[in-house]
Amino acid sequence: MTPPVARLGEVRANRRIVFSGLGALGVAAALAGCAGSDGGGSSKPSVAAGDELAATADVPVGGGVVLADQKIVLTQPVAGEFKAFTAVCTHQGLTVTSVKDGTILCAHHGSSYSAEDGAVEGGPAPSALAEVAVKVQGDKILAA
Ligand code: FES
Repeated sequence: MTPPVARLGEVRANRRIVFSGLGALGVAAALAGCAGSDGGGSSKPSVAAGDELAATADVPVGGGVVLADQKIVLTQPVAGEFKAFTAVCTHQGLTVTSVKDGTILCAHHGSSYSAEDGAVEGGPAPSALAEVAVKVQGDKILAA
């Protein structure tokens, strides 16, 4: 019995099918990357009123903390004044990356926002970060 041998034309046809299939996968992956890039598919913070977000000592004056899981960025623009905003960048929905010198930064494409009110300060972001209500109870910052 002789082993099966594909003719040259059949091999080429099969390769074309494989490559076109990979192309479709690539497009699907690219679309998925655009749609759900913040991981949860939602731009809303995922907290409930009363949830403990951080200790006040964790949030430096003039700086802040990005809570990626809760999609919240906490800031302390001036000593004793704590603010919170959605951490989902209004540019492409990725999570902002840091807070420094009174500015919330999204290093993905260079957007920046005020740590005081979430207003756009630079980069491609089309709109401000929405404020999230928080309250300080003792030495803890809670979702309000
Ligand atoms: S997603 Fe933040 S700058 Fe593009």
